[in-house]
Amino acid sequence: MTLRRIVLLVVLGVELAVGGWVYLEPEQSLRVPDGWTQTERLSGDESVILTFALKQQNVEKLRELVGRVSDPDSPEYGHFLSLEDLSALVRPSLDTLRTVRTWLGKHGVQQCDGVQTGDFLQCEMPVSTAEVLLPGAKFHRYVNGDSSVVRSATRYSLTPELAEHIDFGELWIGGLKPKPDQPLFLQCREGFYRMSLGSWYPNLFCPTHNPLSLHLQFLEQYFSQGDLSAFMKLFGGSFEHRSEVDHVVGEQGAGRAGLEASLDVEYIMSMGANISTWVFTNPGRHESQEPFLEWMLLLSNMSSLPWVHTISYGDDEDSLSIAYMQRINVEFMKAGARGLTILFASGDDGAGCRQVVKGKNAFRPSFPASSPYVTTVGGTSFKNPFQVTYEVTDYISGGGFSNVFPMPDYQVSAVSQFLKSGQKLPPESYYNRSGRAYPDVAALSDNYWVVINRFPVPWVSGTSASTPVFGGILSLINDQRLKRGRSPLGFLNPALYRLQGNGRLALFDVTEGCHLACFDDLVLGQGFCAGPSWDPVTGWWTPNYPELLKSLLP
Ligand SMILES: *[C@@H]1O[C@H](CO)[C@@H](O)[C@H](O)[C@H]1NC(C)=O
Ligand SMILES: *[C@@H]1O[C@H](CO)[C@@H](O)[C@H](O)[C@H]1NC(C)=O
Ligand SMILES: *[C@@H]1O[C@H](CO)[C@@H](O)[C@H](O)[C@H]1NC(C)=O
Repeated sequence: MTLRRIVLLVVLGVELAVGGWVYLEPEQSLRVPDGWTQTERLSGDESVILTFALKQQNVEKLRELVGRVSDPDSPEYGHFLSLEDLSALVRPSLDTLRTVRTWLGKHGVQQCDGVQTGDFLQCEMPVSTAEVLLPGAKFHRYVNGDSSVVRSATRYSLTPELAEHIDFGELWIGGLKPKPDQPLFLQCREGFYRMSLGSWYPNLFCPTHNPLSLHLQFLEQYFSQGDLSAFMKLFGGSFEHRSEVDHVVGEQGAGRAGLEASLDVEYIMSMGANISTWVFTNPGRHESQEPFLEWMLLLSNMSSLPWVHTISYGDDEDSLSIAYMQRINVEFMKAGARGLTILFASGDDGAGCRQVVKGKNAFRPSFPASSPYVTTVGGTSFKNPFQVTYEVTDYISGGGFSNVFPMPDYQVSAVSQFLKSGQKLPPESYYNRSGRAYPDVAALSDNYWVVINRFPVPWVSGTSASTPVFGGILSLINDQRLKRGRSPLGFLNPALYRLQGNGRLALFDVTEGCHLACFDDLVLGQGFCAGPSWDPVTGWWTPNYPELLKSLLP
């Protein structure tokens, strides 16, 4: 049930811009995805919003800093940055800001919004101006059922002087941007976790304040407060839980609740029992382009945020540009530097399947699941689906190896142990052994009950379910940590892989079952299989809460 993103990205490289629906091969790059139809070209006076990702400074320093603040062995573990300090680190150079502003000004673009970290710029302008700014662009509307988006049907470019200052640009249309509410519920707004670079003030963590977990919804999925209450009445039993979302960022549209949204909210709030929950939602944008990127911008523009974010959303790595993924990866580092924990669903297509050329297939990694700076959650099912028995691999559980991000240090030992384990592996030509391997953990992803439009619905499955479940558990652990005056967990992976390296019992091993994969001559084959240690199907297994709490609360 991972949501798919269909978007045109403009990568403003030094050579020339490359734009397209699919980046598989250059000759395919402007292909319209199945189900979508190109319709009329936009008139020059319609309004578009362009988002520019400006070149950041000190990315290498940021990377090192995230390494230190997330490593339990480092004296700087948990010494997170405030948004102000993060801004001071990554803000674009004056030269970049001046060059881009001058360029926009020269074309009469005045209406731009920045973010606190200074590294994104969102500008509204008429189509005619956008087509001059990006020579070659021709904006058309594309429709698929009720959905409609605006994209350029052709490639577009930028001058090399400008391309130096911009990582990528992305197009938004509609003129209507969601108005994020101001954060309302944090009592410790100022100085919430205000720390200067290099110094540490643990009691500014507002220890009495619960951490906040959150779920995001993209693609016009709504949750219903009434369904959530009905769900808690029906399934909430005797444990203390909340039946209301505390804060919605963005606007909830009217209309029927979405299955994905209901599932996520109901399970993050029952697992993260009694933890305040926010929902980020992005409806109401006609022809909304990229709610995911909109969320990234919000992260860079809000100083008080939930500590744990769970996102059931992903895209094929090969459909995205490298520049885009690299930049989003830096955005995850920024989140890690601030102590946020970001969880992504590993996807529901097993190892995935991509046709390289006719008759030749390969596995298909998913992004952001493949980012080394997020914690990726796979799925399991009960051995006997009608009873609470032990867990085995859910055959849909997404997993594999990135073709873009090299393997991070924290997992080298775990993954090489897996590759050497003697387990029968798929032929090497189907995946990239040197890439970032995922998932990192797993949780039950099969046969959930969800209340939707007041009716309980059985048999809902997917890593969209396991991810909020794991997020809820991490929120509980954060809660205990904060009550003891400790920092939140932040970017979890270095601690997680070390934990298992020490042979702790914080997770239940999953050793049975394989996920789906395709081969040249076999569309539904067996990909990777779970084994007695880390594996690219269920990662480090599923959480054993009391033990995990003990291990992460030393
Ligand atoms: C960032 O926040 C500021 C101040 O709240 C606001 O004026 C600006 O529009 C926001 N930026 C974006 C891109 O929404
Ligand atoms: C649940 O949260 C409320 C409000 O934060 C708090 O007063 C109560 O003690 C919490 N209950 C448990 C069992 O933690
Ligand atoms: C394999 O992954 C590495 C990054 O880890 C990348 O540089 C390389 O291009 C990938 N190979 C293929 C064939 O995609």
